[in-house]
Parts: sequence; C-alpha cells; structure tokens
Amino acid sequence: MVETTISVIKADIGSLAGHVVVPDFLFELARKELKAGVENKIINDFYVTNAGDDLELIMTHNKGENNEEVHRLAFETFLKGTELAREKKIYAAGQDILSDTFSGNVKGMGPGSAEMTIEERKSEPFAILMADKTEPGAFNLPLFKIFADPFNTAGLVIDPNLHDGFRFVIQDIMKDVPCFVEMKCPEEMYDVLALLGSTGRFTIKKVYRADGMVCASVSTDKLHAVAGKYVGKDDPVAIIRAHSGLPAMGEILEAFTLPHLVSGWMRGSHTGPLIPVGLKDSRCTRFDGPPRVIGLGFQVSNGMLVGPVDLFDDVAFDITRQRAMEVSDYLRRHGPFQPHRLSDDQMEYTTLPKVLSACANRFVEEEIVPKGTVKDTSDSAE
Ligand code: F6R
Ligand code: MG
Ligand code: MG
Repeated sequence: MVETTISVIKADIGSLAGHVVVPDFLFELARKELKAGVENKIINDFYVTNAGDDLELIMTHNKGENNEEVHRLAFETFLKGTELAREKKIYAAGQDILSDTFSGNVKGMGPGSAEMTIEERKSEPFAILMADKTEPGAFNLPLFKIFADPFNTAGLVIDPNLHDGFRFVIQDIMKDVPCFVEMKCPEEMYDVLALLGSTGRFTIKKVYRADGMVCASVSTDKLHAVAGKYVGKDDPVAIIRAHSGLPAMGEILEAFTLPHLVSGWMRGSHTGPLIPVGLKDSRCTRFDGPPRVIGLGFQVSNGMLVGPVDLFDDVAFDITRQRAMEVSDYLRRHGPFQPHRLSDDQMEYTTLPKVLSACANRFVEEEIVPKGTVKDTSDSAE
C-alpha cells in the first residue's frame, strides 16, 4: 500500500497594508516554486492559499513527515518570498523567518507545520483548517468536540467504528524540549479536559482512532518560545481526516459553530472569538481581527489533491459569524482591561513588561499621601 504524506507548512513573510492579507505576488511566487518542486519530483501536488497574513503551502508527497527535501522546498519558498516582500517594502517582510540557514526541517526556524502520513482509503476526504491571529491551543476545543463529544459528533454514539473512541497526543508547548503525553477518550476524558483547558500550554499534536488510525495533526510551533521573545502569534493549522469510520465532514465543521474564545487578536495580547469564514473573508481587519479560521476540503487520490471546497463559505455559518461579531463588539468595550486583554504572564514576550518595569522603581512600601492634600502634614510645624 502506497503511503501519502500531507504537509501544510506556513509562515507570515509579509502582508499588505499591515498584518492584513498576503499580497498576490507572494501567491504567484509560491505557486511557481512549488510547481518546480513537482517537476523536480520533491512533491506530487500542491495548493497555495492564505489565512490572513499567513502564506499556507499545502503539499502531498511520498517522502514522509519532517522530510528534508520537502521542508527545504517550503523554507526556500519563504526565503525567496521574504526577499521579494522586502524589495517591495511589504509590511513585516520576513516576520516568521528567524534564521536563513536551513538545518534539516522548519522546526524552530519560525514557520509552522502540520503533517500526516496516511494509507489512502478507497476514498480519502479531509479538511485543512487554518487560523490567523491566534495560537495552536485554539484548536483544543473544536478537536475535543470532534473526537470526544457525542453532543457534537453523532457518530461516536451511532457508528460502531467510532465507538471505541480516540487517542489524543497532547504536547506541553512551554517546555524547551518537545514533551508529549497520550490519553484516551472516553476513558480519560476528565484528565484530557484538565490539560486541554489550558490552551496556552497544552495543545493537541495528533489524534488517532482507538485502533491506531491517524485522524488529525496540528502545528504546535510556538514562535515566541523558539524566538525567546515575542515575534508574533504562531497562527496554527490542522489536518483532519473525515468519514468512513471517522467523524463526518459535517461533524468536523459543527465544532466551529460556537464561536469560542481564543487568545491572539491585536498584538497577540487579547481574547476574542474565533470566526469561521470563507476564503473571501480571510483577512483580519477590525482591531487586527477578530481571530479567524478558514477551512478547505480536499480529497487525496493516488497522492494528488482533488479540490478544494471552501468549507465555511456557507450561509449555515452566518449565525456563528453574527454571534462572533456581537461578542467582539462586547469584548472591545473593555479596552485595555482583562479578561479582554490577556493576563501579564500570557503576554510575557510582549512589550508590556517594559512598560511595567519603567513604573517598578516608583513603588514604595508605605501608602503615599500626595502633596497638598488634606492629609498632607509636611508643613504643619507653623
Ligand atoms: C498579531 C499581529 C498584529 C500586530 C499589530 C502591531 O498577531 O500581528 O496584531 O501585533 O498590528 O503591529 P506592529 O507592532 O508591527 O506595528
Ligand atoms: Mg503579520
Ligand atoms: Mg498571522
């Protein structure tokens, strides 16, 4: 049986009019580079798109995960794009490129990647979900709902192939060295939720069906952790297989109807709802957001991509979008106050600590009585 690897490698290498949208010339460059990758037999097929200011390279090949040639192709595409973006003075050109010396794969170099190696079934539908202005933990809630919540996924109850549940590989992304734990649902559901609720720390890396079949893969690259300082949110991508003994495409998409609150938005420092949008709305505007997710549906056929279908471009999500806009409006009224603004520790890589440390030496241990106030007794000797 031939194995096909789906690799989604993405980076923000510059965007138009601020952190809004990938400019057309970067799409053109990426398509040209990946076409050469097909001609040179590095990849089988590709599709280029964007989630807001992130350039997304969707590729299929037979070389397995973390493959040097495939990662090099993506990385060099980002480097060439960065050069062009700098030439045209596009905003934040090369934002996610932390080093221009390639060392085997893109991990730790700035770009994010989600990969999955599959034995193609008789028919192989899957979704690629790509988010902007948020972090990998944004996928914790929907992935839990898809693979473990029977109120979301009817198949968990109705379909005997889903009945044995799913195994979650969860990563502690705050550790310097990658650190993972495997947990099974429904048996360990409360422990799974205890971890996944901490979205800034624990993220789902992969999901497998009870019998070992791989079903989902998420990028868990944490830009601020690899850069040692804040350099932008690590906008995540997820690959999710659908149907024939796995959650249906509609059960995958149902998980995005909440719209749940995620961290990110303006300056990577605010809480906001994750809005599912069609490609035409894949650009972050109001207060650099609100955070949004696009979904493309494909099938893989003998290693080639068939599709895509723009999954959230449907009136069925209008009610979700309306709710998200109302939530956004409500949250924005809080301005710089928590919980709209994230807590200090979630912003430790932003510039806020600099502002706070400038105030630090003005603090004294006794309550201050301002000069000239009624309680001020400094001139009472007369
Ligand atoms: C969030 C993001 C933007 C910027 C903001 C300030 O991920 O990229 O919200 O943080 O627009 O941008 P600078 O600092 O480039 O002016
Ligand atoms: Mg940007
Ligand atoms: Mg982005």
